[in-house]
Amino acid sequence: MKNKQIVLAKRPRGVVEEDDFRIVETEVPALADGQVLTRVHYLSLDPYMRGRMEESKSYAAPQALGEVMIGGTVAEVIESKNARFSPGDFVVGMAGWQQYQVSDGAGLRKIDVSVIPPSAYLGSVGMPGVTAWYGLTQIGRPQSGETVVVTAAAGAVGSVVGQLAKLRGCRAVGVAGGKAKCQLVMDEFGFDACVDYKSESFKDDFRAATPKGVDVVFENVGGAVFDASLARMNAFGRIALCGVIAGYSGQSIAMQNVRSLLVNRVLLQGFIVAEHMEFWPQALAELSQRVAAKRIRYRETVAQGLENAPRAFIGLLEGKNVGKQLVKLV
Ligand SMILES: NC(=O)c1ccc[n+]([C@@H]2O[C@H](COP(=O)([O-])OP(=O)(O)OC[C@H]3O[C@@H](n4cnc5c(N)ncnc54)[C@H](OP(=O)(O)O)[C@@H]3O)[C@@H](O)[C@H]2O)c1
Repeated sequence: MKNKQIVLAKRPRGVVEEDDFRIVETEVPALADGQVLTRVHYLSLDPYMRGRMEESKSYAAPQALGEVMIGGTVAEVIESKNARFSPGDFVVGMAGWQQYQVSDGAGLRKIDVSVIPPSAYLGSVGMPGVTAWYGLTQIGRPQSGETVVVTAAAGAVGSVVGQLAKLRGCRAVGVAGGKAKCQLVMDEFGFDACVDYKSESFKDDFRAATPKGVDVVFENVGGAVFDASLARMNAFGRIALCGVIAGYSGQSIAMQNVRSLLVNRVLLQGFIVAEHMEFWPQALAELSQRVAAKRIRYRETVAQGLENAPRAFIGLLEGKNVGKQLVKLV
């Protein structure tokens, strides 16, 4: 049986291009004792992959050239010589950008797809959801009545942050690119306000949306967008620094309002969700219960077919996605 895979062909210079990737075809090997063969249904595309394509110093080793691109997946067990898995089981894992994976089962987690659809385990009930939960509850620590600002608010992480903040009695203010996304953030995800950072009146609109200042920032973007929140910080505010996507392709993310951190005695903490595995069970318990009860809503942008993954990934970095960006392989 053939396995289509996408490997990293070369390291991008600035903006990612489709020819940074290459499709290869390999033979699926026969299973040895203890191994399991899975077929990928959904591949998750995430901004962190941009960082792995580089060789610069980071919290994780770079993606090796010529190797299958790293990536979270939901897959179905096709064949098993491992007592933990049976054909028909659905599992979350890190099969990467390929159709099939043979593994010893380490790192595969069985999921129940009878109530929550498989794709959601890569979004609001998966890594992005836990990222939202961890940054908000453990670093932002919002109190009822406080104002929580969330950037990239229409995305996989941001959309969950705002909904969790609302469930904790906060005023949730989103920042997103464009009127349509902002409308969705308010209408579908229930934020109290959403400000379009691409609008010329962004700074004024942001001030109007935060009449009592800002207590908690969940920052996904960096640069001028982040600076708008700093200008509105209240004393003893908290900032969960989750991402700086505005700078992932090497753009300048210079900021003006750093003094606000000092004068407002602000706590700022960067974090990597994979380093806090002890919180995942608690986070996933709340997220799965809220999603099943439709108290947390989610959107997905789904590309069809593995060969369209590079284009969809470039689209994610350009803001073409709404909600979680996925690739459907089956
Ligand atoms: N620390 C961690 O452990 C961790 C884990 C997961 C994710 N993250 C970070 O969380 C953030 C969101 O990730 P996600 O998976 O939920 O992605 P996402 O928000 O679904 O998609 C990325 C979004 O970023 C926005 N964006 C892209 N370029 C931008 C720019 N120059 N200025 C402003 N906004 C821009 C786009 O929305 P607009 O149309 O609104 O611009 C785009 O849709 C990323 O920064 C990611 O690196 C961190």
